[in-house]
Amino acid sequence: MSYQVALTFEDGITRFVTCGPDETVADASYKARINIPLDCRDGACGTCKSLCESGRYDGGDYIEEALSDEEAAQGYALPCQMTPQSDLVLRIPATSEAAKTAAATHSSTLVALEKLSETTVAFTLEPDDRAALAFLPGQYVNVAVPGTDVTRSYSFSSGPAEGQVSFLVRLTEDGAMSGYLRDRAQPGDRIDFTGPMGSFYLRAIERPALLLAGGTGLAPLLSMLEKLATEPPAHPVHLVYGVSADRDLVRLEALADYAAVIPGFTYDHCVKEYVTGRLEPRHLNDGDVDVYVCGPPPMVEAVRAHLAEQGVTPAHFHTEKFAPTGTAALAGAAR
Ligand code: FES
Repeated sequence: MSYQVALTFEDGITRFVTCGPDETVADASYKARINIPLDCRDGACGTCKSLCESGRYDGGDYIEEALSDEEAAQGYALPCQMTPQSDLVLRIPATSEAAKTAAATHSSTLVALEKLSETTVAFTLEPDDRAALAFLPGQYVNVAVPGTDVTRSYSFSSGPAEGQVSFLVRLTEDGAMSGYLRDRAQPGDRIDFTGPMGSFYLRAIERPALLLAGGTGLAPLLSMLEKLATEPPAHPVHLVYGVSADRDLVRLEALADYAAVIPGFTYDHCVKEYVTGRLEPRHLNDGDVDVYVCGPPPMVEAVRAHLAEQGVTPAHFHTEKFAPTGTAALAGAAR
């Protein structure tokens, strides 16, 4: 049985390789012409040591100097020895450039354009080669805005297994993508995009999770929910969605649908107030919680400050900040 392994690089680029039965991650990467850091290839040097963020694997044979028991218990593994037993996400300790790879470019056709509110539009693309496009729920791509020489970053709002891919855009007065979507976009238009990218992606649900969205920061969280709808979580997941005006409130019906199908999923929304105003102690679970925040920088910082004020240090704190143009600007993850 083959498994898909997501190699996430330090610069935010992600490449996927297919690992055949009993094939090591290093061999599969080599076949895909991706030079992940390797030295001995024998489980002796530790050069390839990488953090496995989700999935099951056989760690193979190695010596303590290459990987200690403590590191193995923390989720570190040696790609030159490990063979997957499920799909994996591996954090490679190198940039994509150092690994002599880069983000892939995909061509697609615009198939749907939907004005969700006065300020927010959803668009859907049909990739020419959907099989060649793999992404983790929460990641983004750089979209080449038709008729211009600029790109804009948008997170997938659709799930990784859906045939078409969708995005949310908040319309701005002078935005390049806003202008295109408002004035010129027609189904059938050709659109290229590059990716996937970003470290803001759903990890294995190993404890309660709290998802916080500001404005169109809801998009990557919708992608995560789509994934959870197919793989029900073993712990509760709560989402709070905040917007600055009623006209920015979109996709509430989708949240209601997810609440009906995902066991343990609940949500709340607020207008003109920070999402932190809707957090209750039970959502923070004394810090035994994985927090995902996507929104404008002040909102992300407000969440960080709120948690500090409450004296809560979440098990993991994953963030993605985006500029008001809808451009994913900064992504970060911290324990
Ligand atoms: Fe030496 Fe993997 S390359 S331990």
